Amino acid sequence: EIYLNGLTGAVPRLPTDLTRLEELTARRLGPGPVGYVAGSAGDGSTDRANRTALERRRIVPRMLRDVRERDLSVSLSGRPLPAPVALAPVGVLSILHPDAEPAAARAAAAHGIPYTLSSASSTPMEEVAEAMGEGERWFQLYWPKDVEVARSFLRRAKAAGYTALVVTLDTPLLSWRPRDLDQAYLPFLRGVGTANYFTDHAFRAGLAKPVEEDPQAAVMHFVAMFADPGKTWPDLEFLRANWDGPIVLKGVLHPDDARAAAEAGMDGVVVSNHGGRQVAGAIAAADALPAVADAVGDRLTVLFDSGVRTGADIAKALALGADGVLVGRPYAYGLALDGQAGVDHVIRCLLAELDLTLALSGHTTPSTLTREDLTETPPGT
Ligand code: FNR
Repeated sequence: EIYLNGLTGAVPRLPTDLTRLEELTARRLGPGPVGYVAGSAGDGSTDRANRTALERRRIVPRMLRDVRERDLSVSLSGRPLPAPVALAPVGVLSILHPDAEPAAARAAAAHGIPYTLSSASSTPMEEVAEAMGEGERWFQLYWPKDVEVARSFLRRAKAAGYTALVVTLDTPLLSWRPRDLDQAYLPFLRGVGTANYFTDHAFRAGLAKPVEEDPQAAVMHFVAMFADPGKTWPDLEFLRANWDGPIVLKGVLHPDDARAAAEAGMDGVVVSNHGGRQVAGAIAAADALPAVADAVGDRLTVLFDSGVRTGADIAKALALGADGVLVGRPYAYGLALDGQAGVDHVIRCLLAELDLTLALSGHTTPSTLTREDLTETPPGT
């Protein structure tokens, strides 16, 4: 379709090389928001390693395999999806575009791919659910310290039609992020990303004064209860008891943690280092993926994120053992540059490139990709 539009001389409004979106967003928005989105932990080495680990793996295409009929659809935890792709939870999207989460969610819904709403969204979960119509919605939980708020979030998410619970384990504390520190820019401290909390009955009950009367105190309460560094594996029983749909643990990098997830009755893991935003110096997500897939691939849904920028990256992650892939920053930049249409553009580009990459590599479905289809260049070459 993009090529055919080219026949009429119409060029896309945004570049089809998604790696260029960051630079365009940086030109459009001030350094604060872009620093927050593009930035990562410490010296940025994990973020770079995520890209290098994917780039080091190269696809070995196979020829003469009749690739006329192709089908990107997959089944994740028993649910059919048109492609092995979902939008990752990215909080505080209103710093990028006033249409924020509902716009991103609508774009995902239009393609039938899941949208993962962040706990730290700038729009309450019920409003986003409403914007999505029948679209597949997942809810990402930053597991609040207050058990009543946690229970309330789960109840609200269920009532609003979110099917899967994505529990982020890698953020019991916010990491050392120099770009935000140097600009003294943290959206939460400005009250952005608090929508689910400020609309929550249990959260409000814990405040000394109503949010409207003392928003600063409400923000500090939010910061204090946002996460709990004291949680351990047995605490997962609480989630299992309070959520009757699939539960996916996000931020798993060690195969033993993946095994522990299976033993705790979880349904899946997301192999992720939060886009390099938490542990500076952490293993690249693509380097962690094969061992996790080997450990639990037959028992759990294995999802992957951190560094995906192209359809070829998605194909590589699938070949390394992922059942599906989440995409973070690229759609956030799409939103910043062109609202819902920008997110639509990003999804379209990724799916079209995945389709062509599969076909040109000799595959007609994601399920036939294996590690045999990749070579690995040693690090540093
Ligand atoms: C994130 N991510 C994230 N993860 C999560 O579980 N809850 C959240 O609220 C957020 N918020 C968030 C904000 C911003 C600005 C970014 C860039 C990322 C992490 C996200 O879900 C995902 O793991 C990474 O973005 C994946 O890496 P890429 O695709 O950005 O390289």
